[in-house]
Amino acid sequence: MATKRILTGIRPTGPLHLGHYVGALEQWVQLQDEYECFFLIADVQALTTHIDRPEVIEESVKEVVLDWIAVGLDPTKPNVHFVLQSSVPELTELTTYFTMLAPFSEMEGNPTIKEEKENLKSPPTAGFMIYPVSQAADILLFTPYPPEKEDKLLVPVGKDQIPHLEGTNRIARRFNRQYGGVFVECTPKVGQVGRLVGTDGQAKMSKSLGNAISLKDDADLVRRQVMKMFTDKTKLRKGDPGHPDECPVYLYRQAFGDVALLVERAAKCRSGELGCVQCKKDLAEALNAFLEPIRTRRREAENMPLDRYLKEGTEKAREVGQITMKAVRSAMHLDYPMIFGV
Ligand code: TRP
Repeated sequence: MATKRILTGIRPTGPLHLGHYVGALEQWVQLQDEYECFFLIADVQALTTHIDRPEVIEESVKEVVLDWIAVGLDPTKPNVHFVLQSSVPELTELTTYFTMLAPFSEMEGNPTIKEEKENLKSPPTAGFMIYPVSQAADILLFTPYPPEKEDKLLVPVGKDQIPHLEGTNRIARRFNRQYGGVFVECTPKVGQVGRLVGTDGQAKMSKSLGNAISLKDDADLVRRQVMKMFTDKTKLRKGDPGHPDECPVYLYRQAFGDVALLVERAAKCRSGELGCVQCKKDLAEALNAFLEPIRTRRREAENMPLDRYLKEGTEKAREVGQITMKAVRSAMHLDYPMIFGV
């Protein structure tokens, strides 16, 4: 039987928001019945931006587990594993070997690295520049081994992660060419809405940009955030013709809402009949209807054995990882017989 695995991850740097949901979580939930899933809390990668705020990372590990369960990931399923990156030493080892297979110029040319570099508060560290290599290790440690033709390693992510997955597959190919076939190439999977704009209309929803609606925000906060949202800049009052395709509120409605009603709404916006204030009120209501069951489930999750889920998932990850590392060391001639007795 073919092995079908998912490896994907998130940095624990705060509570998760709607952008995470449409970019990633929504698909993860849909795929968890079909695949063996490893969902990684990338606390080491979080250090690339939070080296001075370790307590934020520590706190966020729990927040992420709560948010994951809240949206419907189920760590009580035997095929669903929550993994804490810093507790998997095999990842550190594989990262070290992979650094030798990835030209540094590829890091400098990586568009996501370039964009994130702009938002750093200090000059980029070596660890920041090579995090795509450690991300390749995150993914490829979970390669089905020995690889069979039909095996699959699926990585459902937001669109901004695609350059990292391309880099991952370059490393996999280089490794396989040099040392023999150990790795299955990963398959990227981007959701329908690859990325949600922020409430301010900026390209990316992000807590640090202050334009995010968190999954755990209460109804009142969601309402206030939505009422502050920007709309089509040329539509100043009700009656003015609007341009829904240039309006963040409309984008949100496409992502979360009554798709059947959209065509009619867009027409009423264009004609001026529908004003932005009403439109935002409706959006707030739609978002709250969407978020309410998530909030309820989050409260339930607070009484669940979160530490145990993480421990068991991480142990399973190490079990799989040790199989991969044995193959890697052997392929790279790093399994010296006088030490390993092979
Ligand atoms: N870079 C991802 C983010 O910023 C997090 C991540 C770490 C990841 N390791 C991964 C995503 C492996 C997919 C696969 O959210």
